Formats: sequence, C-alpha cells, structure tokens
Amino acid sequence: MDNRPIGIFDSGVGGLTVAKEIYRALPNESTIYLGDTARIPYGPRSPDIIIRFSHQIVSFLITQNVKAIIVACSTASALALASLKKSFSIPLYGMIETTTQSASLATKNGHIAVIGTKGTINSHAFKNCLTRLNPNHKILEQACPLLVPVIEEGIFDGPILTQILSKYLFPLQTFKPDTLILGCTHYPLIASAISQFFSNDPTLINPGEALASSLIESLPEKLRAKSCPKPIHQYYTTDKPEYFNRIAEQFLPHHHFPTKQISI
Ligand code: DGL
Repeated sequence: MDNRPIGIFDSGVGGLTVAKEIYRALPNESTIYLGDTARIPYGPRSPDIIIRFSHQIVSFLITQNVKAIIVACSTASALALASLKKSFSIPLYGMIETTTQSASLATKNGHIAVIGTKGTINSHAFKNCLTRLNPNHKILEQACPLLVPVIEEGIFDGPILTQILSKYLFPLQTFKPDTLILGCTHYPLIASAISQFFSNDPTLINPGEALASSLIESLPEKLRAKSCPKPIHQYYTTDKPEYFNRIAEQFLPHHHFPTKQISI
C-alpha cells in the first residue's frame, strides 16, 4: 500500500480529461497535476523539444514524491514516453497503447480514424500501434492543429469551432469510420461538437477513459493507496493559473483549484 500521489501532466487543461477519469476509476488515489501552460501548445514542436520538456516535468514530479506518472498528453506520449522510460525508473503510463486497444475492441468494420496534434499524427504512433494489434485495420489520420488553442480559450461549441472542425473532419466523412480516436487529451472537451459531424455516429475513444479503466487492473498492488476518505488533488501550472482555473472549474465543478505557479 502506498499513499503517495500519482503525478499527471499535460501541456495545459487537456490532461484534466484524463485526471477526471482517474479520480473516478481510482477514488482513493491522491494526485499532483501539472499543466505546462507557459509552453503550450506542444503539438507543433519538434520531438527533441517535447522530449526535453517531458524530462523536466517528470524530474519535477519526482521531487514531489509521486509514486507513478501519467503522461496525460498524447503528443508527449507519442514522442517522449520511450525516452522517459529509458531515463527514469518510476512507473510511467502513456496514452497510446490503452487508447488503441479500446479502439481495436470497439471497431466492427475496421475503419478507425485518428485525430490529434501535428506532432502526434506525424509520429504515426496511434497508427503503428493499431496496425500491430490488427494489420487489417484501415486507418485514416488527420492533424487538427487549431483545436488545442481554441479549447484552451474555453471555446467548446459555437460557430468558430464548427468552422475549424469542418476543415478537419469533412475529409473523414467519406471514410466512414465506425470508431474515432480522440488522439489528443484536449478533444474530449469538444466531443459533442465532434460527433455532430458524422451521420453514422462513430464510437469516440477517449484516451483518459481507456487509460483509467486499464489502470484499475494494471496499477501494481504495492502502489495502491489505502482506502482513503479524502484523497488530495493538487494542481500546478508553469504560467499564471487564472486561465487554467477558469476552464478547470467548468470542467471539474466540485473541485477546488488552489493552483500554484511553478518554474521547472
Ligand atoms: N493534450 C495534448 C495532447 O494530448 C495537447 C498537445 C498540445 O499542447 O498541442 O496531445
């Protein structure tokens, strides 16, 4: 039994979609969330930069005495997880494998679409993993670089979002995916706007849900918290917390956000 917190990080608010699922799936666990808001977005940056940022964040979280770390950012999972695993011995969990396993189980016709940041899509991390699971899957990938900045502005619906989504999602409509991977942890915040673009109602795969339900099984017994009446959830950002708090409060309305700004 281990009552230390689990570390969770993302470039901004997107990882809260993962945190929310972890709070639900593992209700005894305390957490420390870091949103690297000073350096968001990660999506357009080159792999070596994402690797450097991710190493800095993992080093910081380790100083906070976390027992495991969730890389709650698909871009960092795609580009930096392998390097993090080589450098750090702490258990690290990323977004790619569990999400693709869920998608592979969900699809009936084998047509799986993946949307994500430029970094994630250019890495083909989801596609490669899906192909390893089943070489017969047909996979269409689409980068959606404008979505993260719009979501970080707190825009979850309305005409601006519809226009941006049309640009990215129209090319997917003829492919008729029955399963759509929300391959960026920000995207579950706009899941209902995304579903409206498809007449065939594809199953949307939320990376946070996929990871949290697999953690119920895979978090080693010795790392689990004792039954705890009140787990503590702490939040850090690398820029002023105001914007982060505004969106976080909408998304997790019963939580308190005494978010602290730190430099790493
Ligand atoms: N939530 C991050 C992801 O899952 C967003 C990356 C970004 O900052 O562009 O990829």
